[in-house]
Amino acid sequence: MLNIALPKGRLGEKVYSMFERAGFECPSIKENNRKLIFENSECGVRYFWVKPSDVAIYVEKGAADIGVAGKDILLEYEPDVYELLDLDIGKCRMAVAAKRNFHDNPQKTLRVATKFTNITKNYYASVGRDIDIIHLNGSIEIAPILGLSDVIVDIVETGTTLRENDLEVYESIEPISARVIANKSSFKFKGEQTEAIVRSIREQMSEQKN
Ligand code: PRP
Repeated sequence: MLNIALPKGRLGEKVYSMFERAGFECPSIKENNRKLIFENSECGVRYFWVKPSDVAIYVEKGAADIGVAGKDILLEYEPDVYELLDLDIGKCRMAVAAKRNFHDNPQKTLRVATKFTNITKNYYASVGRDIDIIHLNGSIEIAPILGLSDVIVDIVETGTTLRENDLEVYESIEPISARVIANKSSFKFKGEQTEAIVRSIREQMSEQKN
């Protein structure tokens, strides 16, 4: 049985559809919306829904053999897992955003509000800019409006949240999408089954493109 951690929510439903189309269906997953674990012994798969930001932990610790996590989570937590496939869904970007008239003053330490502390540190270290990080857990866009920070580092998908709060992208950091990840030792012992799933999904993806 291959244990697969799916990110709960809209992205997870898209992810499950890709696994289903690839031949690893588990019909009971569509019937029950409070249950968290579903299995289909014929296909040898057991799916479970976890919080998107927790998928990498389940996979790194081996509670799941494989899972699907956003590249943002992989960059932020740097889990010790294999990244096997870019699913090309859940696409967005990690970006620096600020008020429309913002001009960076390089003489001053830049105050950056974010949920993504590690990504932020790495990015500003790479451009050699001194920063103070203000760690927030959500609604990051409020920080520059209230003067808590100069800029934010956050995910931008449609850009609506920024627009509606009179902010704009100042610099793009990294494109983000959903990735299939695998536990390193599971990949040794269940490599064949894992590779069969990844191969079928990849085939499905290229068929859909054509
Ligand atoms: C994310 C992100 C932005 C928003 C961007 O928030 O933090 O706020 O989506 O999407 P958009 O460009 O399409 O408007 P999320 O919904 O994950 O909630 P959060 O406030 O907890 O970060």
